[in-house]
Amino acid sequence: MFIVSIGAGKNQIPLIKAIKELGYSIIGIDKNPLAEGFQYCDIKVIESIYNYHDIYLLLKEQLVFDDIAAVVTRSYGQAIKTVAYLSQQFKLPYIDFNTVDDLIDKSSFRTIAAIHNIPMPHGFIIHKKDLLKLNTLSFPCIIKPPKGHAKQSVMIIDSYHELCSYMKSVKQDTVLIEEYIEGDEIIVLGFVHNRTFYIYDISDKILNAKPYFVDRMHVLPSQYYTMYPELQKLGQMITDAFALQVTPLLMECIIRNNSIYLIEAACEFGGEYLADYAIPARLKSNVFKLFLQAIITGKVNVPPKSSVAAIVKYIMGRNGKLVSYSMPKNNHLIHAEMFAKPGDILYYPKNNHERLGVIITKGKTVEKAMQTADTLLEQMHIIIE
Ligand SMILES: Nc1ncnc2c1ncn2[C@@H]1O[C@H](COP(=O)(O)OP(=O)(O)O)[C@@H](O)[C@H]1O
Ligand SMILES: [Mg+2]
Repeated sequence: MFIVSIGAGKNQIPLIKAIKELGYSIIGIDKNPLAEGFQYCDIKVIESIYNYHDIYLLLKEQLVFDDIAAVVTRSYGQAIKTVAYLSQQFKLPYIDFNTVDDLIDKSSFRTIAAIHNIPMPHGFIIHKKDLLKLNTLSFPCIIKPPKGHAKQSVMIIDSYHELCSYMKSVKQDTVLIEEYIEGDEIIVLGFVHNRTFYIYDISDKILNAKPYFVDRMHVLPSQYYTMYPELQKLGQMITDAFALQVTPLLMECIIRNNSIYLIEAACEFGGEYLADYAIPARLKSNVFKLFLQAIITGKVNVPPKSSVAAIVKYIMGRNGKLVSYSMPKNNHLIHAEMFAKPGDILYYPKNNHERLGVIITKGKTVEKAMQTADTLLEQMHIIIE
């Protein structure tokens, strides 16, 4: 039996390895013939993940219908659409293909969420030409592109004047304006199986300085772990609203006065090193494998609760040139990575792609894991001129 992986790049590797460990053969699909994950694949299909129909024809040519146990991806956006299309063609449960666009577009998502009473910040789409009609807006507010990702162009706006100059500066004709919720932000990573939502883990998110929304640190377990039942219920509401059958599901929420506001939900394992390093280090379980096992065997396992802590701490650069650094070593270090090399020009990060590096640690308590991360960062002697 085969499992199809939509994408075979570096990010895809933990999922591809999990497929291998479960004893399935892998069909990897990627337009890049040198994709790093291809080395683990039994069949390589060099094709863009955007061309879902072509991929379907290629698979149909090479295999009999019943050979495919699942189609999965570690990626987001368009890759999910391709998974949904192929799953539909091969009669495997996933997300309805026609629902994927509504899940990706923040404005359609809001419309459906509102019908199902999913708690989100108030918000609406505004066209550039209608800016003058806006007289009831209160500030600060949040603006974001309807199809954004990785905090690109998400901003907090303090006045009508600022809003007008922002609107003039952006290319797109419409933006989403939302009520600003001041509170604590969390990420809930889970999955849907058989139309039921399960939580893997909950983490706290610490942001970098305003006005940008750059993630500076993730702390696990979340201080809001006690809200597990409410968060499970929220995940189930999303599952029901979008008729999700099988999928990973990530929710970003802000908690204010014990009320949960959903900021974003996505049918993906998410990035930010949570599924790859922090959750496995903390809970000793592989979320990719748990998801695949549920699909294949029908049996759902969620990781056991644990008080072990993990920290994903990003290294923030500033305007200048990276001169040098050294990589840290420590027993409690799970992973460290620099995204730039000596000689690179750096900027103060305005979105998640502009961060300088990351250190992931674990410890008996959050404080200990955090201390280790701080010590390691010092040991790196990062010099920026
Ligand atoms: N209504 C809001 N109130 C407060 N903060 C918000 C709001 N909307 C977004 N944010 C902040 O901006 C970040 C990015 O917004 P999000 O809609 O998740 O965009 P992206 O798709 O780029 O992740 C959120 O993680 C949160 O920190
Ligand atoms: Mg987000």
